[in-house]
Amino acid sequence: MSSELTVPAAGGSRRGEPLPDALLDDGERMSAPELRDHQLRQLRWTLRHAYDNVELYRKKFDRAGVRPDDCRTLEDLARFPFTTKADLRDTYPFGMFAVPMSDVRRIHASSGTTGAPTVVGYTDNDLSMWADVIARSLRAAGCRPGDKVHISYGYGLFTGGLGAHYGAERAGCTVIPASGGMTARQVQIIRDFRPEVIMVTPSYMLTLLDEFERQGVDPRDSSLKIGIFGAEPWTESMRREIEDGMDIHAVDIYGLSEVCGPGVAQECVDTKDGLHIWEDHFYPEIVDPLADHVLAGGESGELVFTSLTKEALPVIRYRTHDLTRLLPGTVRPAFRRMEKVTGRCDDMIILRGVNVFPSQIEEIVLRTPDVAPHFQVQLSRRGRMDHMTLFVEARPGTGADRRAEAAGAIGKDVKDGVGVTVEVTVVDPETLERSVGKIRRIKDLRGR
Ligand code: DLL
Repeated sequence: MSSELTVPAAGGSRRGEPLPDALLDDGERMSAPELRDHQLRQLRWTLRHAYDNVELYRKKFDRAGVRPDDCRTLEDLARFPFTTKADLRDTYPFGMFAVPMSDVRRIHASSGTTGAPTVVGYTDNDLSMWADVIARSLRAAGCRPGDKVHISYGYGLFTGGLGAHYGAERAGCTVIPASGGMTARQVQIIRDFRPEVIMVTPSYMLTLLDEFERQGVDPRDSSLKIGIFGAEPWTESMRREIEDGMDIHAVDIYGLSEVCGPGVAQECVDTKDGLHIWEDHFYPEIVDPLADHVLAGGESGELVFTSLTKEALPVIRYRTHDLTRLLPGTVRPAFRRMEKVTGRCDDMIILRGVNVFPSQIEEIVLRTPDVAPHFQVQLSRRGRMDHMTLFVEARPGTGADRRAEAAGAIGKDVKDGVGVTVEVTVVDPETLERSVGKIRRIKDLRGR
């Protein structure tokens, strides 16, 4: 990408220089020992708060034979039971709230593709903490007070839109609350209002990118300098695709409703080396997804979070299903980093005994010439065998020969790199369904 991203803004530049000290908040100024002390204090408070106020936690702790006071070191957390999405569903809607309803100022819910949605609540303090961590995330992403932030995460029960909104206001930015959808209008608004920052899912960014081109505007000439992308897995190849296509910095924001929403962890624009976890509020562990024991730093496994400051919905050892590993901090040395999440345990396709993640397919599609970054994986049954078909769009103007070549190359790369046979169908441009929020890459027809 061109490195001429020069929008001077109050307090710093956009070109990857470290965040000026004056813009760090109190949590970011903690030394590692101070952070550990704070974490233990808050962890003990959270365990007590959950035990005293949530019947489900009380029963779980009693069954496991542990009491809040048994937690004397951070390592003792491993003695406490896990919490899962099923616990939230079983207590739907408000059974895991730890404060009276009159103290709950806002409710969000995840859409839930199966079963009841999971419902989460926030007190005034929770909302303020959430705005703080998103403001911190925005600064780490290179955003500065006075910037205009275009928010295309969906507003509503989903935590993306409103979470980003109040965080951007807290960061001293001007918010453009676009929400998802009405793509042509979004692009017009970006052209007219000239925001410096966009917050959106990476898949919807691709939809917006195409719309720029449809309107005859070079997306690289837009006012945007920084994109803060999350809510779904995306790969380094996707980062390059977006950075080159838009001439922006593309950085990763992570979060989940049960733990808070967006703003649990954020990649810093200076390094783009994984996401610093805001550990003064969210305590991470990595566990073996099958055997359930805690893994050592650097080992890959399932990410588990315990909230440290949340009042309305404290979560103890919440199983995210997201796969990653923990690494030491870099530009925020006290906070550990998590590697970019490239898959979820439950997103893994098991095809004739081989594990396949959509992100592996994404990497291959994005490095293949003549095809666009739009694809969908369809799983079906042929006789007694599982069959995987990959639909991928040709770039405009790509003829039959080059399409066939691309299909052959993708099929070979998937076979060699992932170890499964895939039927590749290169379809016409603009024929696959576009994302307006979180994309679903896999269509599983096997159960029908
Ligand atoms: O997606 C919160 C969010 C909104 C995060 C906007 C970032 C930006 P949920 O709907 O509860 O909350 O979905 C949470 O989305 O467990 C991950 O599987 C996935 N996810 C979120 N951020 C990332 C990311 C929001 N940066 C689930 N990379 C999580 C990979 C992500 N996956």
